[in-house]
Amino acid sequence: MELVLLGPPGSGKGTQAKLLAARFGVPHISTGDIFRKNLSEGTDLGQLARRYMDEGTLVPDDVTEAMVRERLRETDAQKGFILDGFPRNLAQGEHFDAMLSEEGRTLTAVIYLAVDRAVLMSRLTGRRVCPKCGATYHLEFNPPKAIGVCDVCGAELVQRPDDSEGTVSTRLAVYDAETAPLATYYQKSGRLREFDGDQPVDQVTRAIVESVAGTDD
Ligand code: AP5
Ligand code: MG
Ligand code: ZN
Repeated sequence: MELVLLGPPGSGKGTQAKLLAARFGVPHISTGDIFRKNLSEGTDLGQLARRYMDEGTLVPDDVTEAMVRERLRETDAQKGFILDGFPRNLAQGEHFDAMLSEEGRTLTAVIYLAVDRAVLMSRLTGRRVCPKCGATYHLEFNPPKAIGVCDVCGAELVQRPDDSEGTVSTRLAVYDAETAPLATYYQKSGRLREFDGDQPVDQVTRAIVESVAGTDD
């Protein structure tokens, strides 16, 4: 199972990727999560990515592409992957196709999560994340059992620094300018499958699983 999840910030890529990875027994690979991990560990890569993430723009392609190439070569990714947040512009999409063909791999499908703009802002500003285990919640749509505390590991929940209203606006504009053309790119090559992302989480997962489960790798 080799899937790419495509969709605007807040469309549910991370939420769905986690569930799909568990369902299909393949790793969830999120470029945003890898950058955030490097940032919290104070690596050079984290230092470099910080400026872009804080302002809501894209980390340079060469850096991101090299990072993904390395990650996909790890043992656990040999049986498949759920990619979340990559590729993110046409250049990365073309580079990724070249990378896949070099490695003799073929995408199963590109999952596009469609969600109205008005919904995205409230999803992002209401999102809370666990800094310890990465679990994601929403104040209103997916609240933890105890306010401010992670259900999974008990850590105190935080807000992502790029979930402020101003940075969300930039991220949405960057999506429109740079990422949206990728949907057309994948549609033209018959790889895009669109799903209504504004349904309950388990309903979205079910629709995706039904769509890809029968797809021959
Ligand atoms: P990244 O971490 O990828 O952020 P993003 O694309 O902006 O997407 P989000 O993680 O904000 O949203 P999501 O779609 O995962 O939604 P989620 O499931 O959390 O990237 C961050 C930054 O890293 C970028 O700005 C860039 O700087 C850099 N970067 C990353 N990749 C890069 C690349 N390839 N190239 C260059 N730079 C890169 O859900 C959102 C909220 O909604 C949650 O609270 C959730 O609980 C709730 N929710 C989810 N589904 C539902 C539902 N069905 N109903 C109700 N609520 C729901
Ligand atoms: Mg995410
Ligand atoms: Zn946790």
